[in-house]
Amino acid sequence: MNRLKKFIYILPAAMLCTGCTAVEAPSTESAAPHHEEVQVDESLIVVGFSQVGAESDWRNAHTESIKAALTPENGFYLIFEDAQQKQENQTKAVRNFILQEVDYIVLSPIVESGWDAVLQEAKDAGIPVILDDRLADVDEDLYTCWLGTNAEREGEMAGHWLEEYLEDAGRDQETIHMVTLQGTLGATAQIGRTNGFSKVLKEHKNWEMMEMMEGDFTQAKGQEVMEELLDKYEDIDVVICENDNMAFGAVDAIKPAERTCGPEGEITIISFDAVQAAFDAMIAGDINATFECNPLHGPKLAEILKTLAEGGEVDKISYMEETYFDTTMDLESIRETRAY
Ligand code: AHR
Repeated sequence: MNRLKKFIYILPAAMLCTGCTAVEAPSTESAAPHHEEVQVDESLIVVGFSQVGAESDWRNAHTESIKAALTPENGFYLIFEDAQQKQENQTKAVRNFILQEVDYIVLSPIVESGWDAVLQEAKDAGIPVILDDRLADVDEDLYTCWLGTNAEREGEMAGHWLEEYLEDAGRDQETIHMVTLQGTLGATAQIGRTNGFSKVLKEHKNWEMMEMMEGDFTQAKGQEVMEELLDKYEDIDVVICENDNMAFGAVDAIKPAERTCGPEGEITIISFDAVQAAFDAMIAGDINATFECNPLHGPKLAEILKTLAEGGEVDKISYMEETYFDTTMDLESIRETRAY
């Protein structure tokens, strides 16, 4: 069969235009180091994916899942851009996808604000945008649908877990001093987890949230912030870490400070994501519980894109299924079943 081909230009992020006028076809002389011309089988769905970065184990698992699902064998041509935790890079990537006339743009927005202009540009160009993982605070007609996790529910679940944990330990009337290592401020996962946990916090007059500091979802920043908090407060009973990597950083700060953590220690550590390394940390007795944030979006995203490409309708919001894990469970066996 004679299959039609279409051509697109791949422009590395460094040379993307920010003003978004027309793209000139690069001259052969200057183009070689800057772009690559590719032939794409017309039958493939061309998807431009703007990823936040590689800040955490979760993010890496998320990237792998997307890449494994959006393959040519599965009917896709994926253009993947890593924004290295910078919103301006994501904006540039989206503008470049528009210039490339991709079939769909998938955006995992680093923070919720600041997307109106570029998503309006995508809409004006007639390219549907799917938000994945994190939300954008824009009019609903600027995106087709959102696939993600219910971060507020995760935060609430963590709060209720702590309620029970303290009750079982006979500490439900005691003053409990807490600190929070927050994710990137303004990101959906940060907003949801902070708000969800705060709901439960408000119900307990004896829970005192002494300080919340941004740890940017990274292990290094988590450690730095935890060191600062340990210097400032002698009486921390609970640390809420808004992702596993910050929890690993917190443990890295607590141990050299000659403090102890985990189920047998002085400081209870609650975390989010449930990556494999968090199972190792629970098995080692360093952290108490982790609330799952499922990064395996690839198959569901592929299903959404195929449905749309066939002219079908999809739900405006789709949540991933999630649970939680703590040190009362058979973690060694569960860990073996985990894909990330
Ligand atoms: O948006 C999902 C969050 O982003 C994950 O909890 C975190 O690990 C990641 O960086």
